[in-house]
Amino acid sequence: MKHLLDIRSLDKDQIYSILERADYYKRHEYGNAHLLRNIFVANLFFEASTRTRFSFEVAERQLGAEVLNFSENSSSRVKGETVYDTIRTLEAMGVKGAVIRLTDHQLLQNIKDKFSLSLINAGAGSWEHPTQCLLDLFSIQEHFGRIEGLTIGIIGDITHSRVAGSHLHALPKLGARLILSGPDGMMDRPADPIPHGIERANLDELLTEADVVMMLRIQHERHIEKMNISVEEYHHAYGLTKERAAKMKKTGVIMHPGPFNRGVEIDPDLVEAENSLIFKQVTNGVHIRMAVLEMILGGKSR
Ligand code: CP
Repeated sequence: MKHLLDIRSLDKDQIYSILERADYYKRHEYGNAHLLRNIFVANLFFEASTRTRFSFEVAERQLGAEVLNFSENSSSRVKGETVYDTIRTLEAMGVKGAVIRLTDHQLLQNIKDKFSLSLINAGAGSWEHPTQCLLDLFSIQEHFGRIEGLTIGIIGDITHSRVAGSHLHALPKLGARLILSGPDGMMDRPADPIPHGIERANLDELLTEADVVMMLRIQHERHIEKMNISVEEYHHAYGLTKERAAKMKKTGVIMHPGPFNRGVEIDPDLVEAENSLIFKQVTNGVHIRMAVLEMILGGKSR
């Protein structure tokens, strides 16, 4: 595979083989420390990030890559250089892989055939965030021993969430039942329609049925119009409060891709509750990214 831009174009076997490889890397973090020796990888984040950016960097270093980090404000982007020309310039220097986060949801698709360098999507607008989806799948499988047959509830700003954008395709493909819940204005995806057959439910109903309760952040930065609900009202109506968490199945777990806003979509104490996988997701992100880097760049010549 030359690029990893989305989950929707991967089949079930490809997804499971990445999870299997991540499991190897979880048990052997330095088990392939020279795989990417002398291979230059650039992390190009045109949007803010903590988890994705640093876990890619940890993964790259654990595989022995030469890591280049990019700061948009001190790059020639401030002189008007395009994203395409930025990548093309790095490619001309011998960079073999670019891990890219962008606000534009279609740009990667539009430019992917123009490079010999490999592109890895680290979050594209509201479209897809494939490595977040993979680390979520890994965390679910690690906890429950399976994904098939589980019920996963995703709650919140479905409209603007690229994590939801990936799960909408991945979870049904792997035989999970997916239920969405959230405020009326945050449930449709005009630029990337929700596939047929995905259920919707109110939050209280969802909580009693879900094995996984995945809360999402309100993506304020992608809202064109001001929200017609305050954060306090949102917490009251759609947040995972302690009262609501008590309605979850005894075996149910809480997930969140982060960054989370304690006290908005989730009660501050629930982030680190016993049944929360939130920080395990962060840990697993390193191993998933090692597996993805191996798959995309492992065969590249120096
Ligand atoms: N989950 C996620 O993408 O987090 P960051 O924005 O911190 O990378």
